[in-house]
Amino acid sequence: MKQPVHIAVTGAAGQISYSLLFRLAAGALLGPEQPIILHLLEIKPAMPALQGVVMELQDCASPVLHGIEITDDPKVAFKDADYAFLVGARPRTADMERKDLLQVNAAIFSVQGKALNEVASRNVKVLVIGNPANTNALIALSNAPDLKPENFSCMTRLDHNRALSQVAEKCGVLVTGVKNVIIWGNHSGTQYPDIHHAKVKDQDVLALVGHDWFENTFIPTVQQRGATVIKARGQSSAASAANAAVDQMKAWALGTEQGKWVSMGIYSDGSYGIEPGLMYSYPVTVTDGKISIVQGLHINDFSHQKMLLTETELKEERDAIRALLA
Ligand code: NAD
Ligand code: LMR
Repeated sequence: MKQPVHIAVTGAAGQISYSLLFRLAAGALLGPEQPIILHLLEIKPAMPALQGVVMELQDCASPVLHGIEITDDPKVAFKDADYAFLVGARPRTADMERKDLLQVNAAIFSVQGKALNEVASRNVKVLVIGNPANTNALIALSNAPDLKPENFSCMTRLDHNRALSQVAEKCGVLVTGVKNVIIWGNHSGTQYPDIHHAKVKDQDVLALVGHDWFENTFIPTVQQRGATVIKARGQSSAASAANAAVDQMKAWALGTEQGKWVSMGIYSDGSYGIEPGLMYSYPVTVTDGKISIVQGLHINDFSHQKMLLTETELKEERDAIRALLA
């Protein structure tokens, strides 16, 4: 029997966690042979609700779940964590942009970055989901100087999955027939969902769907999908977000499929002319837990302008919370 791995989840009584925790307990991240111990973090007022979630986890009688710990102390939650899903943060409402959450949520991530720095495994994989996810991830890693920027990633897999699904529907194929869409930049309305390098089977997607659909339907649909879900549900996306969180962490832990890439928000090394040190979403492959940016893609003027626009927003967000960058 393998040793259990320690998985920390923050915001564990919230709506994303209500999907995520049960996927984790079903072995969706690392498979049915890998036992897990869940470390669940919440704020004090949410502890009674979290007790209820714990009862439901127990009632799943999961063979994978070897323990559950609940706490309102980040240092307890992150102790020896191998994986950390940073979900806990306030979601936006219909009248807000994600960056309006910056001041509300930023403090959470400096505290949690410090705690991860002190007590988490040195190989911890930290996936930031709480919005604004890119800049929250930057705050967390800046407060964790003894960890590496490579320990941190922010979630743009939901946008990536949205893009895959839109292309599949337009082309009348299954999502498994679509590869190599890209989300560049911020998990926000300025993100650039790019299909210049995407293929359906061996055909270029752009040639199949046409530039007009790409620019005027596909890009705004993917950029605005979160807001559209909020308008429809009255709450932000939760099940699809949990699904994307499992997808992104799984790709990071177990690697990407041969010949395919995924999008992840990672610490920019300057690739494609993006300012180093921003958390920027790139096309990546993963081997043995190491994330590599897909290099050498031709970027035309249309794409270049859109990549710069989302970079500019990330610089503005960073400048707005500079005081929290240790
Ligand atoms: P929610 O309000 O249902 O749950 C958030 C939970 O976090 C609450 O239970 C709250 O008590 C808890 N929390 C607040 N502060 C905390 C702290 N300091 N430590 C631990 N827990 C804390 O929200 P949700 O729908 O689950 O969404 C969570 C976040 O994820 C939001 O910021 C939302 O915008 C974001 N989100 C991101 C993506 C993405 O693609 N990156 C997708 C969907 C949602
Ligand atoms: C999403 O993309 O669905 C989430 O980030 C929630 C939001 O605020 O849009």
